Amino acid sequence: MVISSFIVYASLETAGNYSALLRVVDMSVDRAQEILDAPQMDISGDEIIPASRDIEAKNVQFSYDKKKVIDGVSLNIPERTTTAIVGPSGGGKTTLVNLLARFWDVDKGTVTLGGRNVREYDMDSLMQNFSFVFQNVYLFRDTIANNIRFGRPDAPMEDVIAAAKKACCHDFIAALPDGYDTVIGEGGANLSGGERQRISIARAMMKDAPVIFLDEATANVDPENENELTKAIEALTREKTVIMIAHRLKTVEHADQILVVDHGKIVQRGTHDQLMAEDGIYKTFVGERREAASWKVKV
Ligand SMILES: Nc1ncnc2c1ncn2[C@@H]1O[C@H](COP(=O)(O)OP(=O)(O)OP(=O)(O)O)[C@@H](O)[C@H]1O
Ligand SMILES: [Mg+2]
Repeated sequence: MVISSFIVYASLETAGNYSALLRVVDMSVDRAQEILDAPQMDISGDEIIPASRDIEAKNVQFSYDKKKVIDGVSLNIPERTTTAIVGPSGGGKTTLVNLLARFWDVDKGTVTLGGRNVREYDMDSLMQNFSFVFQNVYLFRDTIANNIRFGRPDAPMEDVIAAAKKACCHDFIAALPDGYDTVIGEGGANLSGGERQRISIARAMMKDAPVIFLDEATANVDPENENELTKAIEALTREKTVIMIAHRLKTVEHADQILVVDHGKIVQRGTHDQLMAEDGIYKTFVGERREAASWKVKV
């Protein structure tokens, strides 16, 4: 997987598509090719510093080819709140998040950040507002330190280390023979998925963007890694606007707002307590996770 990211990097470099590169670095390797394959968007826009980081979608529609995947979605995400997006596989969660961050353009409706249509922003000034934490992280064949300081190449070593500490990756980095100078991807630096994800969290810490998009891991990470990851994510998301595709009950329960997405629509919305008082997908979702948790305890 790391290998494939180098190939993407190489093709981007030759294309001289620096703006696309910035977007790709911020997100998951799995999606890099999709972004590169996507039809060219007009990313020229204005340099805008939004008045707030409220995000709003109005009546948004989106299709891949002819298949309608998002069908009339409206939502409101006030700044500094946490929104959890849940729902069945294939329901449209990832697509919806892609539209909010303008990885693609909507077919109909509008997405605004701070009251301005995301299309009015030039891509760099839009992306300044966002950090992405996904599982399949894009890392360069470069030192760990440079991977962390990617968004701020002139950042001093002490800032890199501070970010790594907050992201719970300082200890494993320091234990490598070359420490922060370890080159990723050249024999030796064989990082686990969890370690790579924490490096991406450290990178996001350096960027310190006000809005964090997060795709929570579904795969079972081992308990120690999960603990470290949870701490790192808490440190990153404090005081931020957080939009997360959530799979774990614990994170969903504490969200200010839960959106249940199914067949391209928001079919339920509210807090945990509100949604538990309704019959619907959410209650089933919670029931399944409670059951899974109790099974785990028994085994
Ligand atoms: N690049 C693509 N091209 C064509 N169809 C796609 C593409 N990406 C997703 N889809 C389709 O769009 C629908 C919504 O997919 P999406 O990935 O948004 O769902 P999801 O809710 O994130 O699912 P999961 O929980 O499995 O991640 C699915 O039917 C999927 O097959
Ligand atoms: Mg998804």
